[in-house]
Amino acid sequence: MRIVVISDTHISTSASPDYKKRWVNWMLVGQAADISRRLVQDVNTLRPDLVLHAGDITDNGDDDSFRTAAEIFGKLEAPFRFTVGAHDTYNPGARDRLAAAFGYRDFSAASATFDLPNWRVALLDSSWWLKKDGSEHPALDWDEYGKGKYLGVVVPRQEVERLSTELRANSQTDIILVTHHRMAKRCEADYTGMFYPEATSKSNLTPFDTCFKNSEEILKVIGDYDNVKMVFSGDAHMNELIQQDDKLFCTVAGACVYPMEYRVIDIADDHVSVAKRPFPDSSYIQESFAGNEWPMGRERDSSLSFNVRRK
Ligand SMILES: [Fe+2]
Ligand SMILES: [Fe+2]
Repeated sequence: MRIVVISDTHISTSASPDYKKRWVNWMLVGQAADISRRLVQDVNTLRPDLVLHAGDITDNGDDDSFRTAAEIFGKLEAPFRFTVGAHDTYNPGARDRLAAAFGYRDFSAASATFDLPNWRVALLDSSWWLKKDGSEHPALDWDEYGKGKYLGVVVPRQEVERLSTELRANSQTDIILVTHHRMAKRCEADYTGMFYPEATSKSNLTPFDTCFKNSEEILKVIGDYDNVKMVFSGDAHMNELIQQDDKLFCTVAGACVYPMEYRVIDIADDHVSVAKRPFPDSSYIQESFAGNEWPMGRERDSSLSFNVRRK
């Protein structure tokens, strides 16, 4: 069985073709739709059994970009499932509109847990917005954001409950978890040079700032289940592989920004191999590169193989 995991395509139909956004390197937002079309062609040559998207499908969470994304990923020959990223939630009602673009009744139908041979895949929504008063909101309110009302993103209470229920009911099946943001304590990479002071006012961000705020809680929930074997995340636009507590935590690079790599997971019986694959057109990669190699990750973030220990 082969699973491809892509992330952070940041498709935008409103951005002009030469629009780039500095986030460590240059995100080619204006060309993101073209990049994703090319990505789909490349993924199809690998003949995967499933393609997962770890979120930030679009850059602004608008209907036109949702429809374009659905048209682009509709060309995948394998089944396609996705989780939602913070960028997809920039407008009220975004989740259901995203789901509708992909032909689902609503977001709960789009994000339902599903089965593969010997495995189960759970899509966890880490892209709700947590305010300093403790309230959780499905979409970003830009006025409130401007007033500094938010602490960050969070897996909302009902989603924590959904995950707990799911894990309790399926403790005998190996589980793959997909969530947009990474979890605290799993960010081991050297973050020196992550943010260029001249490129962003957020140069004092720490790795923890880019994780969802209740990740300690989620780590505790999944820590009770050794059948949770793999966790895939995006958001950081970087490569990272961490094995801890008999689980693999894999961060998938961004599709529209250097190094433009994605993940290919091959599973045969109890053997799992995780590799990365570069985007097939190097001119985009060169255009995106602004001198920061850091998102490529360390050598050990490239690939690994392991055997799944089954009860
Ligand atoms: Fe992103
Ligand atoms: Fe993100």
